[in-house]
Amino acid sequence: MQPKSSNGARPIGVFDSGVGGLTVFREIARALPREPLVYLGDSARVPYGTKSPATVLRYAREAAQHLVARGVKMLVIACNTATAAALPTLQQELSIPVIGVVEPGARAAVQHTSGVVGVIATEGTVRAKAYTHAIRAIDPDVEVIESAAPLFVPLAEEGWANTHVAREVAEIYLEPLIDAGIDTLVLGCTHYPILRGTIEQVVGGAVAIVDSAETTAETVRRALGASAGMSDPPHQFLVTDAEERFRRIAGEFLEHEIEHLEIVTLS
Ligand code: DGL
Repeated sequence: MQPKSSNGARPIGVFDSGVGGLTVFREIARALPREPLVYLGDSARVPYGTKSPATVLRYAREAAQHLVARGVKMLVIACNTATAAALPTLQQELSIPVIGVVEPGARAAVQHTSGVVGVIATEGTVRAKAYTHAIRAIDPDVEVIESAAPLFVPLAEEGWANTHVAREVAEIYLEPLIDAGIDTLVLGCTHYPILRGTIEQVVGGAVAIVDSAETTAETVRRALGASAGMSDPPHQFLVTDAEERFRRIAGEFLEHEIEHLEIVTLS
């Protein structure tokens, strides 16, 4: 770990399996406009959501080690699947603070609901019952219905978020949750906020949507404490494959061209 005095110049590492974590990156950049960020998207190995917990833990460890070697002062696991599989292990193994996205999302859900929370997430997150455990730890009386929505990931990665295909897929995934009477819907995968408009159209105004990106950014801001930062910090983007595709999707999503894009190999 580098000395505390250099903390202002050291970036915060943000990691996801692909482009989804950009939803968290964007909120952290908004909440902490003076902090340099380094974003790592493991585009060579996306999706994580269909892989076993042991494989996701291995990928998350490799990504964390890569970012630590670049001197990050804090790690944000901007992926629910990787948070579910690797958060406690990385918190134990690393000497920097490690923040995941599940607990901040669970807190926001409990604030919004009057009783029944729906969670859409990857198969891995649903299998781990990550949100059920996190929400029940805060309020044991809340009913939680978790459901996998794996096709949302390629739709987001393809830039197909606002198409009729996405709408039809959203109807198939969300109608059972609407019928079950949810009043709050957690977007339990960082790719899903990219489809937020489509999801909102399907669930209607009576269901509150929770996107953990904002609450995670707030958690990061509190955990960071005082930091001088710098004006106009240089953000870096790292991907493990298909950099031009990432550049295009990230540019559309962040609404500006990204600079400093590098391809890296994790091991
Ligand atoms: N963005 C990831 C998440 O929050 C998962 C997408 C994937 O790789 O399956 O779970």
